[in-house]
Amino acid sequence: MSQSIVLFGPPGAGKGTQAEAIVAATGKPQVSTGDMLRAALAAGTRLGIEAKKYMEAGELVPDNVIVGLIEERMTQSDAMDGVLFDGFPRTIPQAEALAEIAEVSLVISIEVPDDAIVERIVGRRMDPDTGDIYHITFKPAPSEIAGRLIQRKDDNEEAVRTRLSAYHNQTSPLAKWYSQKGVLATVNGNQAMSDVAAEIAEVITS
Ligand code: AP5
Repeated sequence: MSQSIVLFGPPGAGKGTQAEAIVAATGKPQVSTGDMLRAALAAGTRLGIEAKKYMEAGELVPDNVIVGLIEERMTQSDAMDGVLFDGFPRTIPQAEALAEIAEVSLVISIEVPDDAIVERIVGRRMDPDTGDIYHITFKPAPSEIAGRLIQRKDDNEEAVRTRLSAYHNQTSPLAKWYSQKGVLATVNGNQAMSDVAAEIAEVITS
């Protein structure tokens, strides 16, 4: 079975921000369920329309929808040697389903306290052309592209609070689950992006 890596952490922990360097270091493609759902929504598919109400409210999309998406994605040829999961799994049933599809050799948990999360999420901006992630304070975009940046619909304070409680109630128990399997590595996500990247690089090469 192929060996995959899971990037784990609360909303706004920096999973998307750190994924690029991990992809470059490992050669594994990034598989972000959040990005896949937003693409389905933008394309107006039935799945996207079904997921919309959960995503905008900050609630988790039902497990069967997510597992179906992942099963399909993992049949593609670039997933043969394992992938970098970003935002998946988010529940114990999702992790159990994943265990049937791929071997998880490493789970990188990016830890950030709740009080830092809201500022990160509310200030996040995305470049719709490249998918690049910026922040109005922590990572301002170059002025030539500033005009085209967008804000995600779920990047508001109310939805963030719901996303945080979904994380604490449904997702954080997975840390113990993976720790018991001996594959969990934690990094301090509450420091400069480059310092987080350096900790992750150490974990990957150790
Ligand atoms: P998803 O898109 O996965 O959102 P999320 O997990 O809430 O994570 P985010 O993308 O918000 O944050 P991130 O950790 O990637 O942080 P980022 O690097 O952007 O999911 C969206 C929704 O889809 C869910 O709510 C749910 O409805 C649904 N969904 C998705 N997967 C699902 C699943 N498996 N099961 C069920 N439902 C699912 O960084 C955030 C900001 O902080 C950026 O502006 C960045 O510039 C800044 N930043 C990053 N690092 C730092 C740093 N070290 N210091 C300061 N600022 C920083």
